[in-house]
Amino acid sequence: MTLLEIMKHRRSVRKYTGEKIDEDKLQQILAAALLAPSGRAARPWEFVVVKDREMLDRLSISREHGAEMLAGADCAVVVFGDENKTDVWTEDCCNAMAHMYLMASALGVGCCWIQGRLRKTADGAMTEDYIRGLLDVPSHYRLEAIMSLGIPAEQPQPYELDQLPWEKIHKETF
Ligand SMILES: Cc1cc2nc3c(=O)[nH]c(=O)nc-3n(C[C@H](O)[C@H](O)[C@H](O)COP(=O)(O)O)c2cc1C
Repeated sequence: MTLLEIMKHRRSVRKYTGEKIDEDKLQQILAAALLAPSGRAARPWEFVVVKDREMLDRLSISREHGAEMLAGADCAVVVFGDENKTDVWTEDCCNAMAHMYLMASALGVGCCWIQGRLRKTADGAMTEDYIRGLLDVPSHYRLEAIMSLGIPAEQPQPYELDQLPWEKIHKETF
């Protein structure tokens, strides 16, 4: 598949079969994260790979809504950025997330981006503080997002190029 085909097929998958992801595929997804571009090559990211079922359940309630799929995921990659290293840690971490999205899709692994930064739990606590406590993360590492991973139990339709909002592309001036 060309990169464009992979991009057309990349969809967020929130239902998983419960089967395990091949370790080799997980390594490729993590390699993709580490290969992402970052400002001044600062690579401010840290990735916590969580497979423990109880911990996945706890992460699934790290948001009031939007993280439920972690309870059925095989694995989560929690992405943190070092704010002491760079002021563009959010952009850098998002690049790593995007790389993981594409690599997972290319390998047939279902995944979904779960926003962590600026979000709250049902109790009104910051998701970041809740997760920092769970995973024992030092305070200068800021939560960006969580990638849920699992074998897809649903297959959202791929995108079609002629249905993209091409009006968003402006030529020469806005
Ligand atoms: C910055 C960002 C935050 C997102 N946060 C969540 C989230 O918290 N929970 C969720 O289920 N999906 C989340 N998503 C997935 C989007 O809902 C999804 O990408 C969008 O609906 C388009 O669908 P697609 O990924 O299948 O193309 C997020 C995606 C991005 C890029």
